[in-house]
Amino acid sequence: MISYSIYIVDDEQTIREGIPMALEAEYKTAAFSTAEDAIDAMQNNPPDLVLLDIGLPGMDGVEALGKIKDSYPDVLVIMITAFEDIETVISTMKLGAYDYVVKPIHMDGLKVTIQNALQTIKLRKEVQTLQAKYLQENLPCFIGESHAIHDVMEFMEMVAQSPDTPILILGETGTGKELIASAIHYRSPNFKGPLTTMNCAAIPKDLIESELFGYEKGAFSGARASGKKGLIEESKNGTLFLDEVGDLSLEAQAKLLRFLESGEFYRVGGTKKFHVQTRVVSATNKDVENIIDKDLFRKDLYFRLGVIKMRVPSLNERRDDIVPLTKHFLYEFSRKFKKKFTGLSSQAEKGLMTHHWVGNVRELKNLIERGVLIGKGPELSLRDLDIQSFNAQEDSKKIANEQGFPPLPPTGIDLQAVEKSLEKFYIEEAFKMAQGNESKAAQLLNINHHTYRYRRKKLLKE
Ligand SMILES: Nc1ncnc2c1ncn2[C@@H]1O[C@H](COP(=O)(O)OP(=O)(O)OP(=O)(O)O)[C@@H](O)[C@H]1O
Ligand SMILES: [Mg+2]
Repeated sequence: MISYSIYIVDDEQTIREGIPMALEAEYKTAAFSTAEDAIDAMQNNPPDLVLLDIGLPGMDGVEALGKIKDSYPDVLVIMITAFEDIETVISTMKLGAYDYVVKPIHMDGLKVTIQNALQTIKLRKEVQTLQAKYLQENLPCFIGESHAIHDVMEFMEMVAQSPDTPILILGETGTGKELIASAIHYRSPNFKGPLTTMNCAAIPKDLIESELFGYEKGAFSGARASGKKGLIEESKNGTLFLDEVGDLSLEAQAKLLRFLESGEFYRVGGTKKFHVQTRVVSATNKDVENIIDKDLFRKDLYFRLGVIKMRVPSLNERRDDIVPLTKHFLYEFSRKFKKKFTGLSSQAEKGLMTHHWVGNVRELKNLIERGVLIGKGPELSLRDLDIQSFNAQEDSKKIANEQGFPPLPPTGIDLQAVEKSLEKFYIEEAFKMAQGNESKAAQLLNINHHTYRYRRKKLLKE
C-alpha cells in the first residue's frame, strides 16, 4: 500500500482542523498556519501534495507556490481560494499549481480533486518503492518482486561477501546476468577496486589473450611501443567480469585456468610473472554441459569458474516480476521521452502476463520503450504494445518461437500426430494456393506430383 502525505496551509483554524480530520483515514496530514512554517517543514520531509491558501499573512500563497515548485518540482500543489478570483487562479496554474478549490470547501469534491492529483504521481511512488529495495550507491537499479528473484538476490548478497571466490552466472539471454554481476561487485568487500568487463564473444579470438593478460612491447605487429596492461591487471583488487565466457577459445581457456589456479600470469610476449588479486565473475547464456560434451569448453575451467554457480530464472518462470518491471520501465521511459504515463491498462497487463518471453527482461524493456514512444497515455494500452496475440492462455500457447513452432508444453506432445497435422495443413494450403492444380501444389512443397497426389488422397480418407 502506498502512503501519501499532504500539507494543509491555511490561516483559518477551522480549515486547519477540518481538512485533516476528513483526510486522516487515507493520508498522512500536517497543518500549518503560515507558508513559512510549511516550507521549513518541507526541508526534512517534503509531502506529496500541498493544499495552499492564497490569502495568507506574511508570504502569500502565490509566492509560496513559486518557492515550492522551484525547490520541490515533484510536489503537487492545489490552491485554496476564498472567492473565484480568476486572474489569480490562472496565474497560479501558470506557476505550476495542479488545480484549485474554492471556499467553502466541500469535502467530497476536495477528495476527488486530491485523488486525481495523486493518480499522476502514483506510478512514480510505486516505482520508487520498488527501486528502493535493491538500491545502493553505484548499483544499477534492479527490480524483482518474485520469490524466485528474491532467492537469487539473497544468495548473491551472501556469496558477494567473499572477496575472491569465482562466481558463474547462468541464465537465458536478457535475464539480467550483467546487472547481477555488477551487484556482486558493489556488494563485495573488494569493491574499492574497479569492475572491468570483457565480452568474450565480441572480441576477435586472437585479441582475447592480449586483452585479458596485456602485452609487452613488440609482442606483435601493431602492438603499442609501451606495451599494455590487460583487464586482469586493470581489475586489481576489484572484479573482472567475463561476459559470454562460453565463447572463449580453448587456448585462452587454458591460460585463464592457470591464472585462476595460481593468481599468476604472463603478458603476451613477456617473461615477467605477474601476480594479481581480483574476483572473476563470469556469465553465459549457453548450455555449458552441452559445449563441454562437444569439447568446446574445458570441464576443469567450468568447475573453477563456477566455484559458486548462480542461475537466473527466465522471466517466464517468475511472472510476478512482469508488472513491477513494466512499471519501472514505464516510469523511466516516460521520464526520458517526457511523456505522462500513469500506469497500464488491465488489458495490457493481461497481454504481458500471458506473453511467452523469449528475450526475457530485455524483450520487455524494448517493448515498453516502444510503447511509451508511440503511445498517447495516460495509460499504456494493449495497442501500444507490439504483442501479436493476447487472448490470455490460449493465445499465449500459440505464440511461436523463432521457427514459428509453439513451445513444447511440460506435459509433452504426440510427435506423430503433430507431423500428421503439419502435413495435412501444408498439403491443403498448397492445394488452395495452386487453385487445385496438383502439379503446381507439388512444386510448392518440393515433392513430385505422384507423391503429392498419393499423400493428399490418403489424408482425405483418414
Ligand atoms: N531485474 C531487473 N531490473 C531492471 N532492469 C533489468 C533487470 N533485469 C534485466 N534488466 C535490464 O534488461 C536488459 C538485459 O539485462 P542484461 O544485459 O543484464 O541481461 P543478460 O542476462 O546479461 O543478457 P545476455 O545473456 O543477452 O547478455 C538490461 O538493459 C538490464 O538493465
Ligand atoms: Mg549479458
